[in-house]
Amino acid sequence: MPADADAPRGAPPDLSLPALREQLWDELVAAVGQHGHPWRTPVLATVCLAADGAVAADARTVVLREVDAPAQELVFFTDARSPKAAQLAAHPHATMVYWSPALAWQLRLAVRLTLEREGLAVSTRWARLKMSPAADDYLSPLPPGTPVAHPAPERGTRAHFAVVTARVERMDWLALAATGHRRAAFDADGARWLQP
Ligand SMILES: Cc1cc2nc3c(=O)[nH]c(=O)nc-3n(C[C@H](O)[C@H](O)[C@H](O)COP(=O)(O)O)c2cc1C
Repeated sequence: MPADADAPRGAPPDLSLPALREQLWDELVAAVGQHGHPWRTPVLATVCLAADGAVAADARTVVLREVDAPAQELVFFTDARSPKAAQLAAHPHATMVYWSPALAWQLRLAVRLTLEREGLAVSTRWARLKMSPAADDYLSPLPPGTPVAHPAPERGTRAHFAVVTARVERMDWLALAATGHRRAAFDADGARWLQP
């Protein structure tokens, strides 16, 4: 694990576990509202099946759209036809990975994913999004990953917008510092410090 000049920006705070947990949720809430915040664009890792049927892993960046700390839920949007949508339908357990160079904090969240394609949760968010340039992401006539002759994006009229809710089941926090790394876990069994 590196503790070089590029990563740590000071020692991790000397916090109690409950205060740390609160600070992690505060940081996630802050990330939604700050475009440059590194935790706004976590990596989402899912389980998939390879062509030969073997269990495999997949991962990609998503934008964190909403955080409900009391409910321990996060929201991101996707195209309902995307491979990740099929993956999470088959295997709803996933991991989200966040790294903040400013804090020198890594946060790994074990989550259970639920995808909604219709209903109030979808229509209210699509109503807000559809007038923005981001709407194009959900209006392609072709599903994500389809081979195309030319790389120019096409805009259709039918939206394939889906809302994915990630319920957090476990948080694994790692702080890098030259004075000593710190690690803690939070889950249904409680909170505890871990050997980094
Ligand atoms: C900075 C960034 C943010 C992204 N945000 C999202 C997002 O919020 N939702 C999404 O479905 N794809 C998002 N993407 C695209 C995905 O990373 C991915 O390429 C695409 O969704 C296809 O993924 P899949 O084949 O695993 O389904 C983002 C990509 C980048 C680089």
